[in-house]
Amino acid sequence: MKRRNTLAALLASALLAVAGGAQAQAKLKVGLMLPFTGTFAALGTAIDNGFKLYVKEQGGKLGGREIEYFVVDDESDPAKATDNVNKLINRDKVDVIVGTVHSGVAMAMAKAARDSNTMLIVPNAGADAVTGPMCAQNIFRSSFSNWQSSYAMGQVMAKRGHKRAVSITWKYAAGDEMAAAFKEGFEKGGGQVLKQLNLPFPNVEFQALLTDIAATKPDSVFAFFAGGGAVKFVKDYAAAGLNKTIPLYGPGFLTDGTLEAQGDAAQGIYTTLHYADSLNTPRDDAFRLAYVKAYKLQPDVYAVQGYDAGQVLSIGLNAVKGDLSKRAEFAAAVEKAKIDSPRGAFTLSKAHNPVQDIYLRKVEGKQNKAVEVAIKALADPARGCKM
Ligand code: PHB
Repeated sequence: MKRRNTLAALLASALLAVAGGAQAQAKLKVGLMLPFTGTFAALGTAIDNGFKLYVKEQGGKLGGREIEYFVVDDESDPAKATDNVNKLINRDKVDVIVGTVHSGVAMAMAKAARDSNTMLIVPNAGADAVTGPMCAQNIFRSSFSNWQSSYAMGQVMAKRGHKRAVSITWKYAAGDEMAAAFKEGFEKGGGQVLKQLNLPFPNVEFQALLTDIAATKPDSVFAFFAGGGAVKFVKDYAAAGLNKTIPLYGPGFLTDGTLEAQGDAAQGIYTTLHYADSLNTPRDDAFRLAYVKAYKLQPDVYAVQGYDAGQVLSIGLNAVKGDLSKRAEFAAAVEKAKIDSPRGAFTLSKAHNPVQDIYLRKVEGKQNKAVEVAIKALADPARGCKM
């Protein structure tokens, strides 16, 4: 009897070992939830490219596991966000989700990730809540918070001597948060925001608002638009002749990945962002060369954020040898890592948002040229995060 028990135990442990081995070999299911249509389509594509470039550079494996992709086009539509993210979680049973661009969609994703304890890496959307009240051990961001990108510009515009500004953006989480952060930075520097203008996302009928700006006569304008909307806004602003009298500023999304299409209308615009086209560091040069070679396209901030989402995942997975169930060890490894980004090395805050240098950039030709570091190692205040 005793012998039979021992045999059974031996057999069971042998089976377990085989099962464990097989599990270590299983592909890592990565859900990419990004916009591939609509005004942010180019941003989604750049993130997808960047992420896949990093994976390719690692020989197609992260943490020893091959990657299998599951892709959803979220259309930057918050109304479809919960259904879309649940396709990845419940139908495809992905191990990790990378996404997205739009703050409203990202908040629905963060809720679903929290509720199901699915790993989520946000490669763009700046929604302050994601690394604020919704912060969690299984949620990371490789991009920025909306506060970070626009607080810095408020400070810069005040330092440049502007006193009376108007802000203009889309009416949704990212627009609201960037306008508020800009106001905070600008007023702290002694400026005053005369008006906060907006229009529904993703509308591009700017004419009435441009007329309002001309009538209000501010000494500067702060604008957040991105992708196709940014192209149209910058061109319309110039076509109305406003760029001759009222300098236009914004977070760098206004001119990143858009300069080909904006052409002359964008020349001379100053923006703040955690990336620029002329960093000339060996790390960034190597990244840019590899990206151009792979995609025959110039990289932009979105490509960098996608690439760095790959790095964050890789750092965590290596620490747990591919076993994503070890959430605490995964998070601890990422929290103490220095991430070797093309933008310059950065760390993640306790709330899992990048602590990073914000560059002041100026559009010259087809480039967002770095002028200086506007704020060094800027950390999001992570208001409301209890972690
Ligand atoms: C956002 O919705 O958070 C967002 C979208 C596009 C950007 C930046 C932020 O370029």
